[in-house]
Amino acid sequence: MKGTTDIPFHKTLSFEELTCMVAAEGTERKSLLIEAGRVQEEYVGKNVFFRGLIEFSNYCTKNCYYCGIRKDNKNIERYDIADEDILAAARFAYKNRYGSLVLQSGERSDDKFVERISRLLRGIKKLSNGELGITISLGEQTRETYKEWFKAGAHRYLLRIESSDEELYYKIHPRDAKHDFQTRLNCLYTLKELGYQTGTGVMIGLPFQNYEHLAKDLLFMKELDIDMCGMGPYIEHHDTPLYEYRDQLWPLQRRFEVALNMIASLRILMPDINIAAATALQAIDPMGREKALKCGANVIMPNITPTANRKNYLLYENKPCTDEGADDCTNCLNVRIQMAGREVGYGEWGDSLHFHSNRGRR
Ligand code: 5AD
Ligand code: SF4
Ligand code: FES
Repeated sequence: MKGTTDIPFHKTLSFEELTCMVAAEGTERKSLLIEAGRVQEEYVGKNVFFRGLIEFSNYCTKNCYYCGIRKDNKNIERYDIADEDILAAARFAYKNRYGSLVLQSGERSDDKFVERISRLLRGIKKLSNGELGITISLGEQTRETYKEWFKAGAHRYLLRIESSDEELYYKIHPRDAKHDFQTRLNCLYTLKELGYQTGTGVMIGLPFQNYEHLAKDLLFMKELDIDMCGMGPYIEHHDTPLYEYRDQLWPLQRRFEVALNMIASLRILMPDINIAAATALQAIDPMGREKALKCGANVIMPNITPTANRKNYLLYENKPCTDEGADDCTNCLNVRIQMAGREVGYGEWGDSLHFHSNRGRR
């Protein structure tokens, strides 16, 4: 990168330029973050949207090599929050004018689970008079399931590609039918086709990953024409197969810096999408999410999972807010967002502007 004034504007960034931006250090890096903050204010303003996050179950049928709640990890207590408690958390989000919430869990696709989610979606719509927006993040499912959930009230879906490079994908997932790269891609295409606002994302600082992989990830998001993105640093977990490679990782601080570079670069590349400040940022830097809000991120996901269960949803180590309650996180984030010079968009769905500007073309 030759300096801010030379950052070619969105739509025209090449692979080489993106690689430099993602790898930026020192003053160049500073300019990149400032430029991204400027683009953010120009296109999506100062507003930050809340998505109340309910991590309602850590049962998972998959075995991703990086994840602390993978099926084969026997060292955690599994939980599944009762429907009435999930609905109570949704009521909390509604009362506190969150605008929308995210339902997330480990991946399951049995009929009982699919039906249960439909029921919950209808319940949440009902208790909020149709006002709460609902994002779901429930992994790979069949087209029928995605369709059924859309009909039941979900309108956004988050499915991280984790890495858009097939070779790297198979270094961090088992190479089997349950972790098939092409299936994951197809799921993303299906979600878009069905009319979901579609979000994806990647982990940053994985073993075997380099700046070129990350630049490719950004181009992948552009190509897929996503509406939302959630991406954050990879943080090793001692009960996972990838822990073995911990000595080969970038230092945590560098992973954090590159994660912000990624957010900033994506904001410049896709100025009107929604970008989340991932919770994992805060596992490295106490002000991590606020820093992200200044250089491109405009969505934050306060954890509203009932506190008793939070300690068991440890995808990675040092996860923040495991002792706090929903009220604590809401108040805390209010203050933090103001400190970052941003404003909470209370009571609004906060849809991605990109989705609406594209509607006619889908
Ligand atoms: N470090 C950072 N993020 C992780 N995730 C899972 N395990 C880790 C980890 N060790 C992320 C994945 C997944 C999301 C729910 O959490 O990207 O999509
Ligand atoms: Fe399951 Fe998601 Fe963790 Fe993979 S990343 S093991 S699908 S919870
Ligand atoms: Fe949870 Fe600050 S966001 S306590």
